[in-house]
Amino acid sequence: MLSYHPLSAHIVVLPLPSEQILVQVPPRPYAVEIGAGHLARLGALLDGAGVGRRRVLVSSPTVWRIHGDAAAAALPDIPVILVPDGERHKHLQSVSRIYDALVKQQIDRGAALVGLGGGVIGDVTGFAAATYLRGIDIVHVPTTLLAQVDSAIGGKVGVNHPLGKNLIGAFHQPRLVVIDPLLVASLPRREFRAGLYEVVKYGMTSSRSLFDRVGRSVKELFKRDPDVLQPVIAESCAIKADVVARDERESGPRRVLNFGHTAGHGLEAITKYKRFRHGEAVGYGMLVAAEVGVGRGQLAPSDRDALATLIRRLGPLPSIADLGIAEMLEAMRRDKKVVDGRLHYVLATSVGEHKVVDDVGEQELAEALARVGFR
Ligand SMILES: NC(=O)c1ccc[n+]([C@@H]2O[C@H](COP(=O)([O-])OP(=O)(O)OC[C@H]3O[C@@H](n4cnc5c(N)ncnc54)[C@H](O)[C@@H]3O)[C@@H](O)[C@H]2O)c1
Ligand SMILES: [Zn+2]
Repeated sequence: MLSYHPLSAHIVVLPLPSEQILVQVPPRPYAVEIGAGHLARLGALLDGAGVGRRRVLVSSPTVWRIHGDAAAAALPDIPVILVPDGERHKHLQSVSRIYDALVKQQIDRGAALVGLGGGVIGDVTGFAAATYLRGIDIVHVPTTLLAQVDSAIGGKVGVNHPLGKNLIGAFHQPRLVVIDPLLVASLPRREFRAGLYEVVKYGMTSSRSLFDRVGRSVKELFKRDPDVLQPVIAESCAIKADVVARDERESGPRRVLNFGHTAGHGLEAITKYKRFRHGEAVGYGMLVAAEVGVGRGQLAPSDRDALATLIRRLGPLPSIADLGIAEMLEAMRRDKKVVDGRLHYVLATSVGEHKVVDDVGEQELAEALARVGFR
């Protein structure tokens, strides 16, 4: 950020101020600290939040190779446990490896785990923290955009079962979340883009200003310019924090987070979680939801077009041309958003506004899928 400093008559570069968002959940609210360079300040941030002195860091070999030196400098002498990440390692064996290390090091109830990694490390480490000695503290230091704007906040932790995703889990809110926007500079472009679709979700359902901000700064975002990235991350986190505070266990308001996820999860399932990154599937899912909205006369075609244009500009997305409407409907029926036989469906009603309905029928879903390009 460039600014003119009148006293010295020099152009000086001012760092963006760091930001703090409070997640107001009982019994203990927690802070999300956001600032470029926060990884280097991790020790001070943990001390400031009163996190116990006995700390154990959990990360993945990939993340540790890139950010390990900086993390070790910020937390000298901290024991480190590395477990592989990526969706195929999100299982109980990874949790078990963390337990083994904790038991061997005689880690007690007062200790805290620090999870440095993407959503997989966060979910696995969080689940270990939720269950080891019936629960110890967890601090999330997310390193993917998806984890920074979504999975690190809200307390959902867990692993996959061979027969289904996220079937084993718990609610375990973190003690603290520390977000350093500089960490995503090393993220592959496709992973970064996948996170951006979740940002678009927040914009489309809850904030026109966020939606417009992303649209204005696609180029700078992909360059990982921290001055552009930080406010986008901060607003996304504020929206998620607000939703979580109103509905910690996902019975009502938290459903808004599922915008684009009904068709998105269906798409991931029928392609066996191989073709799409989660965010990419949500990109298509949002297009389907927008078509449902337009079909019902609840969303203006111009707002659907604005969403489609933004999603296309962030693209490319893997193709859906070979995927059928019938198999999508089948997969969507099986998704867990069906409660008592009714599908809870989040509709955007304009850019930045939404509502939840439970009367979306198969016929209108089929028509929406066809308009998005499913066979
Ligand atoms: N708990 C929740 O509320 C919640 C919400 C959304 C998603 N999730 C979960 O999050 C998981 C997906 O998370 P993800 O997309 O972060 O995947 P991920 O953790 O597998 O990370 C993706 C890839 O990026 C690499 N990586 C991570 N940080 C990096 C960095 N800074 N530089 C370079 N490479 C880096 C990882 O090694 C990995 O290969 C899914 O399992 C999903 O279920 C959980
Ligand atoms: Zn998602």
